[in-house]
Amino acid sequence: MKKILSIAGDGIGKEVMPWALALLSKISKKYDVNFEVTSVDWGADKWLKEGVGLPKGSLEAIPKNFDAILFGALGDKRIPDMAHGKEILLGLRFGLDLFINLRPTKLLNHSYCPLKNFENKSIDFVIFRENTQDIYRDIGGSISKNTEQEIAIDESIHTFFGVQRIVEAAFAYANNHKRQKVTLIDKSNAIRNSGALWGRVFNDISQKNPHILTEHLFVDTACLKMLQNPENFDVIVTTNLFGDILSDLACGLIGGLGLAASANIKPGIIGLFEPVHGSAPDIAGKNLANPFGMFLSVAMMLEFFNYQEISKKVGESISVSLQEKFVTKDLGGTYSCDQVAEKIIERI
Ligand code: NAD
Ligand code: IPM
Ligand code: MN
Repeated sequence: MKKILSIAGDGIGKEVMPWALALLSKISKKYDVNFEVTSVDWGADKWLKEGVGLPKGSLEAIPKNFDAILFGALGDKRIPDMAHGKEILLGLRFGLDLFINLRPTKLLNHSYCPLKNFENKSIDFVIFRENTQDIYRDIGGSISKNTEQEIAIDESIHTFFGVQRIVEAAFAYANNHKRQKVTLIDKSNAIRNSGALWGRVFNDISQKNPHILTEHLFVDTACLKMLQNPENFDVIVTTNLFGDILSDLACGLIGGLGLAASANIKPGIIGLFEPVHGSAPDIAGKNLANPFGMFLSVAMMLEFFNYQEISKKVGESISVSLQEKFVTKDLGGTYSCDQVAEKIIERI
């Protein structure tokens, strides 16, 4: 029995999450596995009504009571500074110390790749995004606000401990998944202090893994190379902010945000699984959301539970729909979220 906390959130999060739960329910009927799901209404409505984002005691209770968190998306125009998202999503990432944000980019079907002459190449890389540090920690402040003298400061933090554990995780993944190369992406030519720390740690760990090729790219060049030769990337390790930006660029190469999944992990303790996309207010409420990013996040959760075969089935079912062009509008199809989701579940 696996215990799952489901947080649908806002916008299309609320549209794709019910399908993720329907998929789990189908899986438990077909295979010898069981899930106990607890759904909570944390998100914009609760924040606006009750002033509550992450309820008190959640960070202590979650690891005791759940094996994983399934997360939809947050984001609401009524909360322009995303205060609730900082408390809930970033609160869970930091509070549960989910220091690995694993974002795979795999081209499942060439017809959704926007690159020319790419038929004989493949895209299959993973981003290890550091998930607890950098500019995300809200350290800073501003003075003389709303005047021409305003000064705003956002500090970016990087500790030896934090850098070491994510770089080690990237190399461990490379070893366990027979990957050839690990690329460090940073901006150490301009951001020198943390750049030097990342570079030193990366070099130390690469020396302990002489059988793995290593590479260092500045983030601007990495963006260019990711567009020109995405087939050359294998395992990427990078900072929180660069990982956020690079992962959206990466999924643009395989069909877009509707196909991108992620895992926020504290190894051996707990994981939070979520699509890379946000609440997509431009399409929310219209039954247009692509549920595949959510489904592939479920597949990552199943892998985390060591249900490798079932996880593979979910991926295969999505590949069939991509092949048959039974897809939503973002992928050029004419089908609704409900229709494509039902088809995936039927096929399991
Ligand atoms: P977004 O990811 O919500 O949407 C970007 C674009 O991609 C939109 O045009 C949207 O329609 C499209 N898109 C995204 N997911 C899709 C899907 N499943 N199917 C079809 N099309 C899809 O990013 P945004 O518009 O910059 O942000 C909207 C809100 O979401 C903001 O409040 C932002 O802060 C928040 N956000 C939250 C998360 C999260 O919860 N993890 C991630 C990113 C953005
Ligand atoms: C993501 C999102 C979040 C991030 C936002 C909503 C804070 O863009 O999960 O990629 O920057 O991590
Ligand atoms: Mn993002």
